[in-house]
Amino acid sequence: MRLEGKLAVITAAGSGMGRAACIRFAGEGATVVAIDVSREGLDRTVAESGGRVQALQADLSQPEHCRRAVREAAALLGGIDIFWNHVGSPAPNVIEELDLADYELAMALNLTSSVVMAGEALPHLKTRGGGAILFTASTSGLVGSPRSPVYSAGKFGVVGLAKSLAIRYGPDGIRVNALCPGLTDTPMAFSFTAPDGRAETSAKVAEATRVSIPLRRIATPEDVANAALFLASDEASYITGVALPIDGGATAM
Ligand SMILES: NC(=O)c1ccc[n+]([C@@H]2O[C@H](COP(=O)([O-])OP(=O)(O)OC[C@H]3O[C@@H](n4cnc5c(N)ncnc54)[C@H](O)[C@@H]3O)[C@@H](O)[C@H]2O)c1
Repeated sequence: MRLEGKLAVITAAGSGMGRAACIRFAGEGATVVAIDVSREGLDRTVAESGGRVQALQADLSQPEHCRRAVREAAALLGGIDIFWNHVGSPAPNVIEELDLADYELAMALNLTSSVVMAGEALPHLKTRGGGAILFTASTSGLVGSPRSPVYSAGKFGVVGLAKSLAIRYGPDGIRVNALCPGLTDTPMAFSFTAPDGRAETSAKVAEATRVSIPLRRIATPEDVANAALFLASDEASYITGVALPIDGGATAM
């Protein structure tokens, strides 16, 4: 068991990669709290994990709710060894005549949630003598993204946060890394492949993306959960400050 005895918190865990990771982490011996805004999504995660995951409902677009959620998760678990903030959101695609409320919501989910929750989680990891923090960035946090500049700005911020915290908290035995998935087969992928909301557009863009990737497929939620499992585990005990592409080689080009 690769996470035997570890206490883990995963956000955006009511769907996609977060759900896959809850199941994977619990299967490797971790005690997991899954956080999400969707009660229905959380119920499915708990059911699919065979009841091995505890659910905590919270709206992570609100910084105060982020704080409370980490506090409640730590209380449920009796501490935190692994904290993965996976929540994020598509963002406005144009900055001309930007709707500031849309912008602020996207930045709240893509960046502020990581700053606030990591800040709340750090003392718990220190108390346990160290641990691992993960943030979900994106390949859009590694290379510029002309179709989604605001999303990209938030995800570059997440990578900067991970690297900076890695340097600062390394002496405390806390490793901090960012996951950078390319297009991944989850409900959110639709908003990236179909800005016009049309299924045909989505299918076309997904196929064009697939054939442009060296490994000729888009990611599965399990691809990302496996990378997270490695970075969260002691197998990665000398890896910190990394922004790991999980993209089939897309950003190698
Ligand atoms: N899917 C992709 O192609 C892709 C690629 C790169 C990075 N990402 C990143 O992955 C993360 C999304 O994960 P996914 O693709 O597994 O998505 P998903 O659509 O499967 O799941 C998103 C989850 O986030 C939850 N959520 C939404 N708003 C929330 C809020 N305010 N508070 C709490 N939970 C909330 C939803 O209820 C849902 O369960 C984001 O950080 C996203 O930027 C996704």
